[in-house]
Amino acid sequence: MIEIDKITKTYGATQAVDSVSMTVETGTITVIVGTSGSGKTTLLRMINRLEEPTSGEVRINGESTLSLKPHILRRRIGYAIQGHGLFPHHTVARNIGAVPELLNWSRDKIAARVDELLDLFSMEPAQFRDRYPGELSGGQQQRVGVARALASRPDLLLMDEPFGALDPIIRTRAQEDLRRIQKRLGSTIMLVTHDMEEAIRLGDRVAVMDGGKLVQYATPPEIITHPATEFVANMVGDVERPLRLLSLIPLSEVVEEGSAEGEALPPEASLRDALSACLWTGRLAVPVVQDGRHMGRVTLDAIRARAELHT
Ligand SMILES: Nc1ncnc2c1ncn2[C@@H]1O[C@H](COP(=O)(O)OP(=O)(O)O)[C@@H](O)[C@H]1O
Ligand SMILES: [Mg+2]
Repeated sequence: MIEIDKITKTYGATQAVDSVSMTVETGTITVIVGTSGSGKTTLLRMINRLEEPTSGEVRINGESTLSLKPHILRRRIGYAIQGHGLFPHHTVARNIGAVPELLNWSRDKIAARVDELLDLFSMEPAQFRDRYPGELSGGQQQRVGVARALASRPDLLLMDEPFGALDPIIRTRAQEDLRRIQKRLGSTIMLVTHDMEEAIRLGDRVAVMDGGKLVQYATPPEIITHPATEFVANMVGDVERPLRLLSLIPLSEVVEEGSAEGEALPPEASLRDALSACLWTGRLAVPVVQDGRHMGRVTLDAIRARAELHT
């Protein structure tokens, strides 16, 4: 459990974070959302003491982070920022194994962990472990960046706008991957975003920041149905606008005869799901399968045609 207790950060006359208190349960994703300058990054960076709080404290499992040396603390807390931050001259395996290497894990244990994570991120270990970041697509680099942050099994993973540089459609897929992997590993994640849609998709709980203050801390359904302030209501109002139409059309409406490679989707999945699956994995079509029975495929061309019908 992570307890943030009346934490404050002042820069001169600016109250970047103003007495924020919240409790984060182990094994959950908490998303901190707010507009630019609302204090999200400062709040996150006070948790691993990249910034020292002006007042207040953070406790991890009852232990004040002030009682730990910052470098020890940062080994227990993973940190992933926008862009992947991979070492360009190191292989994928060395990048993912960087922190375990620092912690003196054995070679075998590091190699096993690297392969486990590549598998989890749907990247065939034999095919990817010896590649260099420059030989990967943007989505693959981003996955390796997150795998690296998870490699040493941190008590807590802090992520600051990790998907900010990704295309909005690929971002949906990246969010789904993170959610699935977080469930599998039972990781505790605090993620910062300015995108309320991302917050609602990913968060077990959502913390809304405005002007350095925590204005609401609640589950996504509560945020949507009972926004605490007008500011929160406005942020919720913007959700899903760009891709709303595609998310309303089920695959059953556009499924056609033929086969396709890779992971299948059910007929009730939306065109938006299929679009993100295609773009994320570089496929031109996805198979549609219901209860194990092959129904056909949905192609990227068909999705584009439907999208254009509405524009
Ligand atoms: N090192 C700093 N020195 C002075 N002001 C800062 C510093 N870091 C952040 N701020 C100010 O604190 C406020 C919150 O910033 P930040 O935490 O980066 O917000 P967000 O991540 O939500 O965009 C902003 O007004 C910003 O200008
Ligand atoms: Mg920020």
